[in-house]
Amino acid sequence: MKRIPEPFRIKMVEPIKMTTLADRELALKEAGLNPFLLRSEDVYIDLLTDSGTGAMSDNQWAGLMMGDESYAGSRNYFNLCNAVEHFFGYKLTVPVHQGRGAEQILFPALIERMRQVRGGDSPVFISNYHFDTTAGHVELNGGKAVNVLVEEAFDTTTPYDWKGNFDLDKLNATIEHYGAKNICAIISTITCNSSGGQPVSMKNLRAVYEIAAKNDIPVIIDSARYCENAYFIKKREEGYQDKSILEIVREMYQYGDMLTMSAKKDPMVNIGGLCCIRDHEELFAAVQTRCVPMEGFVTYGGMAGRDMEALARGLYEAADEDFLKYRIAQVEYLGERLRSAGIPIQYPTGGHAVFVDAGKMLSHIPADQFPAQVLCNELYLEAGIRAVEIGSLLLGRDPETGKQKPCEMELMRLTIPRRVYTNDHMDYIADAIIELSRNVDKLKGLDFSYEPPVLRELCWFLVYGREKKLRCNLLM
Ligand code: F0G
Repeated sequence: MKRIPEPFRIKMVEPIKMTTLADRELALKEAGLNPFLLRSEDVYIDLLTDSGTGAMSDNQWAGLMMGDESYAGSRNYFNLCNAVEHFFGYKLTVPVHQGRGAEQILFPALIERMRQVRGGDSPVFISNYHFDTTAGHVELNGGKAVNVLVEEAFDTTTPYDWKGNFDLDKLNATIEHYGAKNICAIISTITCNSSGGQPVSMKNLRAVYEIAAKNDIPVIIDSARYCENAYFIKKREEGYQDKSILEIVREMYQYGDMLTMSAKKDPMVNIGGLCCIRDHEELFAAVQTRCVPMEGFVTYGGMAGRDMEALARGLYEAADEDFLKYRIAQVEYLGERLRSAGIPIQYPTGGHAVFVDAGKMLSHIPADQFPAQVLCNELYLEAGIRAVEIGSLLLGRDPETGKQKPCEMELMRLTIPRRVYTNDHMDYIADAIIELSRNVDKLKGLDFSYEPPVLRELCWFLVYGREKKLRCNLLM
């Protein structure tokens, strides 16, 4: 497969430490076999996330110097509002510190509206697939998070262009099952992180919006990777080949009433987020009311003036088609190298990551012994690469029954930060995984020696083989 050269040159470098196997064994042991607890200095290539890990451009760094740090009415806020209106056509903007900041101020307001305006009494949110903090905010507010992703998404090796799509029949059936008045919102997550950074087609977004409108349900677009989604539409969907990314984004956002955004992904800022509403003043007021005590005054939310400027500029850079072409090709290149060596991955590759199907690769390890986590740990030991489990471990337990929720897939996510690693790094990653794949039969499952009650991926402690107890000294 052809490698597309980086459409940028390097002006500043950040050295990364090379480690030995002995160094890594010690580091992972001290981290309680939990890569989240490693010191990042002990990691050679960090593929934990593409969130906040991108490299800002010279233009964004220059923007930091233009920060207006006034408590109220910062000029950078207005620059940000203008950029939002330009791309999405939404008039009402609240800056937040990151995506979950938007969820925390928007979801309670939607639940309140569901009760007061629509007469519902048991809150439900429906999404193609809720990201974990998104589901977390629904559940913390007493709601139920229901996913209605297409079946094709769960079959990693069979190609399908739109593995992020909503299953429209399931969507209709879910609305009927819970009653439209109880549905606080439908959340279109673009791209769909949990199924592998997989895109949602324009046709699907449109159909979801029509179903929502028919049932008087608002639609939120969870927008972390909206430009990557737009690029897939341009490449794969009939009628969009000659449209610009801007035109595609504008159409996508016609099929939503509001957006939440973790701006730490596509717009390539290290911190920041957005909660924007098309034109619903009352909802905007309710969101602003929550913003003040939780995030900050309404014209900065959770952000410094300089960070709002970097974000306003990042929204333009995210939509650069030459960059997107390279970005998607870099991820695809890594995926193709693995696939051609017989390693099962979510196929076709998505926008921000290659998802290795550890359930298939380590089929001798049952889901409740976390095969994808086993693979992540081995990859770290083998090559100093930190990947992340997206499977049973992340999904957690059912809050009602306390039982491990059944997970459709056990995936190891190799998440590629934007503008950070070169194509040579991709080869190093591929070589390491191919080497590892030769000996996976010998790997053993994992179990907890301590399990926190919520969001356990942040602070779990694991031991190999169920007998050895390890403690982590970082969180003590
Ligand atoms: N929605 C999606 C689809 C996400 O992927 C994330 C974060 C969020 C919301 C929350 O945003 O982190 O800025 O508060 N995803 C990161 C990841 C953490 O690694 O996939 P946040």
